[in-house]
Amino acid sequence: MTALRTLGEMSVLLAQGADGSFWMPQGVSTVARHVDWLFNLILAISVFFFLLIVAVMTLFVIRYRRRAGAGAEASAKHNTALELTWTIIPVILVTVIFFFGFKGYLDMSTAPANAYEILVDAQKWNWSFTYPKGYVDSSLHVPVNRPVRLVMTSADVIHSLYVPAFRIKQDVVPGRYSKAWFEATEPGEYELFCAEYCGTSHSGMLATVVVHPPGEFEIWLEKASNFLETMTPVDAGRKLFQVRGCQQCHSVDGTAKVGPSLLGVFGHSQPLADGSSVTVDENYVRESVLEPMAKVVAGYEPVMPTYQGRLKDAEIMAIIEYLKSLAGNG
Ligand code: CUA
Repeated sequence: MTALRTLGEMSVLLAQGADGSFWMPQGVSTVARHVDWLFNLILAISVFFFLLIVAVMTLFVIRYRRRAGAGAEASAKHNTALELTWTIIPVILVTVIFFFGFKGYLDMSTAPANAYEILVDAQKWNWSFTYPKGYVDSSLHVPVNRPVRLVMTSADVIHSLYVPAFRIKQDVVPGRYSKAWFEATEPGEYELFCAEYCGTSHSGMLATVVVHPPGEFEIWLEKASNFLETMTPVDAGRKLFQVRGCQQCHSVDGTAKVGPSLLGVFGHSQPLADGSSVTVDENYVRESVLEPMAKVVAGYEPVMPTYQGRLKDAEIMAIIEYLKSLAGNG
């Protein structure tokens, strides 16, 4: 076991600089060290046997090649020592890998009881994170050195939450809750990816994880939660527009995305899919947020999810004020 540990640690030294390895960014969670150790052990074993097999094969090809005048010898039928060797050594290796892999899997699936809980909603194609008092953000903010438990679900298809720096990846499935946990060990900003192909903008389904230094997470949460009181309605609306996923499908610069651009539409008439038209006013915006299928703009698919129960009245009002501010030139 000591020899295996040394082999694993040697490969860590070989593969890992201060900013992470060739394979992974720097590990900044409590489990990263264990995941990397096992990964590097498996890598070292694979490289060792790959080189051994290729070397022996090359040697044999040259040494036992067919020569003029020499007939082929009969193949050996049995070699007990050789067969025991190639059975026992791999059994020991896979048992060691299983032991550390299973232990790590159990540790990574069981969150500590005092973990801070954050709800995660995935939908095509953005992430939203709901904090204990109901504040929702598009970034995952967490305190350093404290276990955080994620309770995750999806509004549409299967997504997968992946934070390479924490070495965690977990599928997010519609109709059920999946869980993941981690404890970040370094303040900073890290990338969060969707790791399950979920359609057109899968590769753009990104978020930032912000690990706050001791004491600063609570200050951030307090300040962020009060944005409706501290910001003007237009600014609050802009923030909601970005944070709640609107901008994934609606541009504000006139470009058509999955949904129509919202530049300069407020107060103007819009043609609808059924051939009629509607003037974009407060009531139409509110209806479209709560009942997106009611009046779909011509030329677009009815794919918008409802925000019924997910946006408060004051938040819808702020979004309306923001849309009014997008006057545009037409
Ligand atoms: Cu969500 Cu890929």
